Amino acid sequence: MWEVMLPQDFSKLEVIGEGKTKIVRRMENPDLVLLEFKDAITALDGEKKDTLTGKGHINARISSFLFEFLSKEGVPTHYVSFIEPNYMVVRRLKMLPVEIVCRNIAAGSFTKKYPVKAGSRLKYPVVEYYLKDDLRHDPMMNEDHIVVLGILPSIEEVKEIKELTLKVNKSLSNFLDSKGITLVDFKLEFGKDKDGKICIGDEINGDSMRLWDKETGRVLDKDVYRQGKKLSEVLETYRECYKRIIGEEPKV
Ligand SMILES: Nc1ncnc2c1ncn2[C@@H]1O[C@H](COP(=O)(O)OP(=O)(O)OP(=O)(O)O)[C@@H](O)[C@H]1O
Ligand SMILES: [Mg+2]
Repeated sequence: MWEVMLPQDFSKLEVIGEGKTKIVRRMENPDLVLLEFKDAITALDGEKKDTLTGKGHINARISSFLFEFLSKEGVPTHYVSFIEPNYMVVRRLKMLPVEIVCRNIAAGSFTKKYPVKAGSRLKYPVVEYYLKDDLRHDPMMNEDHIVVLGILPSIEEVKEIKELTLKVNKSLSNFLDSKGITLVDFKLEFGKDKDGKICIGDEINGDSMRLWDKETGRVLDKDVYRQGKKLSEVLETYRECYKRIIGEEPKV
């Protein structure tokens, strides 16, 4: 099916899910889904929203590139293939309603909640869990909450997610460091495939990571949008992020 289907036909595929920045479509093979990355950019739980032409391409490509890299590092992910300009074919997962955050440097909400200096390196990477629940504003959870709320059946599986997150942190930090980028923090979403195996799903790009230039501290991620910078500057930041990670100019 994939060989004969062109991106312009994808709109005919049934939509089975849609969030703020991606559309999930059913594919002929029931074990796969198509993720379409939109040009939308949002912040503050979706209260702030704009269109940034080309962002969908940039984020789909960066996600695909980093998932491929992580697969080679032995990390189980949902990634199957990238289709120009803004599509990713992935294995269909039953997503866990949890966001796993890993922090190397104090930034964002961490510096608002805790008495810690913004920009300071933490003694060791801190892993946090948040319940994906907009009405409750994504409350932070501990490992016991994940089991007691029935999200995972045992603490062992919670530990598995934590270990995978720390492995991703090591691999991604080293890779990005070689590109002159500091991985400040990032967010992952996990799911289970049809065999019940835990895999990383969703996306990994400048929307889900904080990235600072190693030398200058320049912000290379969505924080420029959160800070209210001009949209032209926000797009330039996404383009720069692409150039650093992929090693070529984005096609936008
Ligand atoms: N491999 C996968 N299989 C099935 N669903 C997936 C997979 N990867 C990601 N998803 C889901 O696709 C949706 C992506 O949409 P998007 O990121 O735009 O959502 P969102 O606005 O962040 O909202 P939310 O994540 O709360 O649904 C998410 O619900 C995500 O959990
Ligand atoms: Mg999302």
